[in-house]
Amino acid sequence: MKTGRIVIMLAVCIAFLGNWMENQCHTTGMETMEHFSIVQAICRLALVSPNEALTHQIDRLSEALSETGDTKAAQQLKQLIKSASRNQDMTPRRLVPSRGATVSLPGEVLLPTTILPSDRESGARLVDAIFPTAATVSRPYLLPYLERAVLTLVSEWRHMDELRAVGEQPSLSCLLTGAPGTGKTTLALWMAHQMGLPVLVARVDAMMSSFLGTTSRNIAQVFDFANRFRCVLLLDELDSLAKVRDDANEVGEIKRVVNALLQNMDVRASSGITLGITNHPQLLDPAVWRRFMSQIEVPLPTQEIRESIVRRTFEPLEVPEALVHLLAALMEGSAGSEVKTIVSLYKKRQAMSGEDVSPIETIREIVALNSGRLSLEVKSLLKRDDQELARWIRNRLGGNIGVVELGALFNKGKSTVGRWVKEPERKEA
Ligand SMILES: Nc1ncnc2c1ncn2[C@@H]1O[C@H](COP(=O)(O)OP(=O)(O)OP(=O)(O)O)[C@@H](O)[C@H]1O
Ligand SMILES: [Mg+2]
Repeated sequence: MKTGRIVIMLAVCIAFLGNWMENQCHTTGMETMEHFSIVQAICRLALVSPNEALTHQIDRLSEALSETGDTKAAQQLKQLIKSASRNQDMTPRRLVPSRGATVSLPGEVLLPTTILPSDRESGARLVDAIFPTAATVSRPYLLPYLERAVLTLVSEWRHMDELRAVGEQPSLSCLLTGAPGTGKTTLALWMAHQMGLPVLVARVDAMMSSFLGTTSRNIAQVFDFANRFRCVLLLDELDSLAKVRDDANEVGEIKRVVNALLQNMDVRASSGITLGITNHPQLLDPAVWRRFMSQIEVPLPTQEIRESIVRRTFEPLEVPEALVHLLAALMEGSAGSEVKTIVSLYKKRQAMSGEDVSPIETIREIVALNSGRLSLEVKSLLKRDDQELARWIRNRLGGNIGVVELGALFNKGKSTVGRWVKEPERKEA
């Protein structure tokens, strides 16, 4: 049964109990309420998702108890109302909207206390609720053209009413594709934050079930739930649904799962915002892919974007720009997540060893421990002697590095490094 319906039923029960109490008290003069602990438990449960009507009815019940002299029970109910309203005040949704962003979507307000749907057989939760705030969501660095496109899309959603007034529908679904670690999930959360909406992240792996028909039922359950609330539905790692194909499942099950997804996306299409994420768009059924009205391909970061990620990861430390340029150059071809990992390791090493170890030695040490994260070229480069490496850096970073900054990378003076880069290159034997 849906939580909304449960709450309505509970409100009706409480109203009925209130009336019953009043009648009982008038007719029998009873002073204490029988089974109060059960009534209290019902009220506590109902107040998980409080609303005005419900609070009013519990308040009525409390007044009725108070009038009959059962002040202790009356106080306990008042206390329940008070803590429910305090909990609501502390919910992050009050902190969410950025720049007054609101999207006019229908539906109930999703709260951190809202009970989330789970798989009926395994009990595994099917969605996670995330309430993005400025403190928890960071803006991904994107190429200017991509950033402009994303902002246009978000702005379309924020001006939904104006668009509808002129007979236009905003494109309410978007598929984010790209290599692992390029910042797709970060981007989706940031977009939701810009809209001032919470995110329901569908756990696609939890939705998959080996029981025939259960995956389709889970999909429907997730969409029904998302459609009830004002939120962004995020279908992360969407391609795992394609795994159904690899299982020894009968063909009919695959069709059922894809159809369930298509039908649910169609129902949601005009009412709620849906973001899909996949690292493997080619594994998606073309019909699913087409359902997303916009598609954004998040590319691997450029040198400039890697530099921004390096600077942000070093925060609050101030680092020489030459080191920022060098780390970003060494991570060419890597995703943002890899850049972040390497820089975090560097930060840790630096915090432990201080200035004694040169930046280049620190980088060599990290690379030795993360051989899978760097290219063969970079690994062999770092194995060369300091002089050769200094030359490579000077060539690669060009105007971005002077002899003083180059020397600082090796903990050497400018005359030594000046000599290194001036000396004619040694010929390989
Ligand atoms: N362009 C970027 N700008 C800022 N941070 C980035 C960028 N790309 C990746 N990151 C950082 O890398 C980490 C991983 O990013 P995220 O999880 O969003 O990537 P993803 O594409 O969803 O990865 P996966 O495909 O593995 O799910 C995050 O901490 C994120 O901040
Ligand atoms: Mg992700």
